[in-house]
Amino acid sequence: MKQTGIGFPHGKNYQGTIHLTTSKILLLITLTLITLTIIPLYFPFHKFPSLSFSNHSPISPADTIPPANHSHDTLIAIDDNHHKCDVFSGEWVPNPNAPYYHNTTCWAIHEHQNCQKYGRPDSDYMKWRWKPDDCDLPVFNPYQFLEIMRDKALAFVGDSVGRNQMQSLICMLSRVEYPIDVSTTKDDDFKRWYYVSYNFTMATYWSPFLVKFNQPDTDGPTHTGIFNLYLDEFDEKWTNQIDEFNYLILNGGHWFSRPSFYYEGCEVVGCKFCQQDNITDYPMTFGYRRALNTAYNGIMSRENFKGVTILRTFAPMHFEGGEWNGGGDCIRRKPFKNNEVRLEGSNLELYLAQMEEFNEAQKKATENGLKFRLMDITQPMLLRPDGHPSKYGHWPSEKVTLYNDCVHWCLPGPIDTWSDFLLHMLKMEGRRSAQEKLIRKRKIAS
Ligand SMILES: *[C@@H]1O[C@H](CO)[C@@H](O)[C@H](O)[C@H]1NC(C)=O
Ligand SMILES: *[C@@H]1O[C@H](CO)[C@@H](O)[C@H](O)[C@H]1NC(C)=O
Ligand SMILES: *[C@@H]1O[C@H](CO)[C@@H](O)[C@H](O)[C@H]1NC(C)=O
Ligand SMILES: *[C@@H]1O[C@H](CO)[C@@H](O)[C@H](O)[C@H]1NC(C)=O
Repeated sequence: MKQTGIGFPHGKNYQGTIHLTTSKILLLITLTLITLTIIPLYFPFHKFPSLSFSNHSPISPADTIPPANHSHDTLIAIDDNHHKCDVFSGEWVPNPNAPYYHNTTCWAIHEHQNCQKYGRPDSDYMKWRWKPDDCDLPVFNPYQFLEIMRDKALAFVGDSVGRNQMQSLICMLSRVEYPIDVSTTKDDDFKRWYYVSYNFTMATYWSPFLVKFNQPDTDGPTHTGIFNLYLDEFDEKWTNQIDEFNYLILNGGHWFSRPSFYYEGCEVVGCKFCQQDNITDYPMTFGYRRALNTAYNGIMSRENFKGVTILRTFAPMHFEGGEWNGGGDCIRRKPFKNNEVRLEGSNLELYLAQMEEFNEAQKKATENGLKFRLMDITQPMLLRPDGHPSKYGHWPSEKVTLYNDCVHWCLPGPIDTWSDFLLHMLKMEGRRSAQEKLIRKRKIAS
């Protein structure tokens, strides 16, 4: 096995490449090393190191950005067209009205995604919206979102890209209201936010592998730590907590490239990059598939959980010209067109593994009266090499391991569109359950 840089493993079978049909540039997307891996080396990335959410100085969100239309008539309306439209297939189109918040109007932006602060010179990357092929995806309306979520609760479960999404959502909602911190622990991995006027709770659960894990060795064969993954055991830090939630947004994938031992039935059944002759080294999809399956079973095992489970598919990284630690960077300044780039290599492998596990679980969930939905952002985000911090997630002089971050997303930026998708899904959900109710009523009546 070849190792590079500070010792991140690269199984050559698991390196993904994207072939750009126009520019013929090989994008080295090294899914295996996954840059999320590196993050704790320079700061506890999934935490909020430089933001104190409870001590923020109040910013008047109305200062620079006009409030969204708050007409009740428009709140829950959806057109018929949307029913049939695949909102995840489309193109990015210019949107001169974006962004809808700035680093001066939203305190929830993570330090390392505050690209404007760190001197990113361009701003066009904020000025796109997603246009599905067969319909329109309305720009996020925070009033509508909060109205739908009134008296409800939503949880994010997963890794730092999930946290990235939650912070984007807080910023998108900031035109209406900021949440208060009602966390039950000081641990920033488990935050709880409350929107007082709407009785809406939003929580985040740190679970990068989605199953029970620990880190017995912070060094390991590649000096990046090694993890024990208990592939058949629930991560009870979240599975025991979900009953109250109406919506659960799950994400994962990137961390499965980390050196890990795989346990099943309390026995080591294999590993990823453990470099021990007597233990089988599996592709990362091995651990990922089993972990997803276990996470889904964890959800289905909760008798009192009646919420909607949403799998947010993973967002591709965009290192070009090298790997994350070999000079790779993401310096493009505009989105790709759909025909300019394809999902390939390990991106594709992970995507397919994820879809297969989801489809299986969805069947089972439906039989159990549970709703499993897919927020399929992989293709839209594949088209956004311009949306990452690159070197603008820190000062040039700062010594950070992941110097060019082509994994996370600048705020404001393309990840804000995930809120558009989410709102669309919530509306469809409302419509679905209204229809189901109607059908039930008709059945009873006849
Ligand atoms: C808000 O929406 C309503 C209904 O669509 C419309 O009549 C009204 O003009 C809008 N107001 C603003 C300020 O855009
Ligand atoms: C916001 O970005 C500007 C550059 O556009 C920067 O000067 C400023 O420090 C940033 N403010 C915050 C609060 O991050
Ligand atoms: C607030 O929302 C929760 C559900 O998240 C619900 O149980 C509770 O009754 C609501 N409180 C009020 C005052 O409506
Ligand atoms: C593999 O070998 C190491 C010693 O090289 C030993 O400590 C470990 O228990 C062995 N693991 C298995 C699963 O046999």
